[in-house]
Amino acid sequence: MLTLRRLDPTGADREALIEFLTGHEFPFHMRPRLTRAQVEQDIDDGDYPDDEKDSYWLHHQDHGRIGIVRLEDLEDPSPVFDLRLATEHRGHGLGEASLRAITRHLFETLPNVTRFEGQTREDNIGMRTLFLRCGWLKEAHYRESWPVRRVS
Ligand SMILES: CC(C)(COP(=O)(O)OP(=O)(O)OC[C@H]1O[C@@H](n2cnc3c(N)ncnc32)[C@H](O)[C@@H]1OP(=O)(O)O)[C@@H](O)C(=O)NCCC(=O)NCCS
Repeated sequence: MLTLRRLDPTGADREALIEFLTGHEFPFHMRPRLTRAQVEQDIDDGDYPDDEKDSYWLHHQDHGRIGIVRLEDLEDPSPVFDLRLATEHRGHGLGEASLRAITRHLFETLPNVTRFEGQTREDNIGMRTLFLRCGWLKEAHYRESWPVRRVS
């Protein structure tokens, strides 16, 4: 059983969020290794909570906090997400359970949402597999979208 628990990035969850984001590598993200200074700056710049954005811990009944999800464009009918599992919880099927729980949460709590959008790199096979398994439909392939370090 997996639930979403709202995160308070500027208050009670600030330190835990910094620890999570600096304690794991995210090889398919633009900044694969975040420093404490970068995360603190993002939080202080208001990068985390407002009407348009929200973040949640992904809480597993046996494993506790397994990751985070950030939802963006929440005032649009078509929000987007950023899902990050802790390193030790990758490769165990928890990504699929997470994506299903996030999708359910979105459509059950936001009546104006008609479409949920996700993007990932072409070489993030794990994430692409999740999209397919969860019934997502590929709409576009952005060939030169933004520069990132490739994973070998
Ligand atoms: C991406 C992520 C959510 C995927 O969740 P996960 O539960 O770890 O998914 P897995 O790695 O088990 O991959 C799912 C499936 O793809 C397969 N897969 C993964 N990488 C693969 C590869 N390079 N080649 C072939 N198959 C691959 C896995 O074997 C698995 O299939 P299986 O269940 O039949 O074994 C998670 O790994 C994560 O949080 N990564 C870091 C952050 C990230 O990249 N987020 C996505 C941003 S859009």
